[in-house]
Amino acid sequence: MTTFKKWGVVDHVLNLENSIIREILKLSSQPGIISFAGGLPAPEMFPETDLREAANQAFEKYHHNCLQYSFSMGVPELRQELANYCSARIPEIRPENILVTSGSQQGLDLVARAFIDPGDYIICEQPTYVGALQSFNFFQARYATVEMDDDGMIVDQVEEALKRYNPKFIYVVPNFQNPSGITMSLQRRLELIDLANKYNLPIIDDNPYGELRYEGEDVTGLRALGGDTVISLSTFSKIVAPGFRIAWLIAPEDMMPVFERVKQCSDLHSNTFGQMVLLEYLRSGKLPGHLDLIRQTYGARRDLMVKAIDEYFPDEVTYVKPDGGLFLWATLPVGMSGKDLLAKAIEAKVAYVYGSPFFANGGGERTFRLNFSNASDEQIVEGIKRLGNIIKENM
Ligand SMILES: Cc1ncc(COP(=O)(O)O)c(C=O)c1O
Repeated sequence: MTTFKKWGVVDHVLNLENSIIREILKLSSQPGIISFAGGLPAPEMFPETDLREAANQAFEKYHHNCLQYSFSMGVPELRQELANYCSARIPEIRPENILVTSGSQQGLDLVARAFIDPGDYIICEQPTYVGALQSFNFFQARYATVEMDDDGMIVDQVEEALKRYNPKFIYVVPNFQNPSGITMSLQRRLELIDLANKYNLPIIDDNPYGELRYEGEDVTGLRALGGDTVISLSTFSKIVAPGFRIAWLIAPEDMMPVFERVKQCSDLHSNTFGQMVLLEYLRSGKLPGHLDLIRQTYGARRDLMVKAIDEYFPDEVTYVKPDGGLFLWATLPVGMSGKDLLAKAIEAKVAYVYGSPFFANGGGERTFRLNFSNASDEQIVEGIKRLGNIIKENM
């Protein structure tokens, strides 16, 4: 008998699936593989020198306090600085609306802890971020999925789901969605907020990519449009560096004691040193310039991948060209499977993530996701060429 059976690990944990993306990342970290699998920012773009300077500043200013336990809600000066930073997009925001989390992934976990009883329904897009499904699955959520078109979640389908399933919240990734790259239109955002108000439930606005726009006009954010109807998650992971695991949750002030409680149960507080380094980095005023730089780089990589796809993929493969973010979402011809093709791609030393795990209730077998931020120009062209050949050989 295996140890986990002998010791009685609970069924709902045994039933959890390992993250398919982490599994593929393991495969794709073999030497020589060109990987479009992860959602990793480009390491050569990390603002290393400026972060080192910020770390020195943090030690100089706060000494041992950098290394001490701190508040569950986050370092107060960082909450203030984040409120200042967000105020350009969210005019009403105050530090009291902000909880510092250990990555947005923890934000998702805290939301799940606060809202989901086993069997509760959640409304989400189809496809949606697989890491959110993992967090919600732990609490044994069920899903009412809503299809997407070029304008994002098809809100006309939402009211039907609200009546039928009495869900606890609506989860959306409105900007350059992971995985589909789609951005929700202003009209849809307004309609969704109206519905959430009518049925008295929160919208969870998961927004790691909003600042990474390479073309077109920004669409006003859900929190700015919907105020306290919306709980927003933002993160430093894609715009500075994911290794800090520092992100922030924005919620109505009277929800904060709830989130403070669940945060304390989870990890007492997010890491103090990382918060203070990012506080000093924000104060240095270097983030806007850094954002310009990564937008330029990632935008160029997106363009190159699109050009390579147009050249090397057969016309039967369709794809979404995103206005921002890190991902390009593609669909194989009828009869082909993204999962089956991956084994052949790995043999040819190129990796991607197949799409079906992003579908909460199944489906999406023909889809796959390509990341363009974490590959060099040469790797993008060569990797897409190899993938194109494999698709053609297997059509
Ligand atoms: C939509 C979405 N939400 C949340 C996360 C988690 O981000 P973090 O690194 O802040 O935990 C990711 C990471 O890829 C993501 O794509």
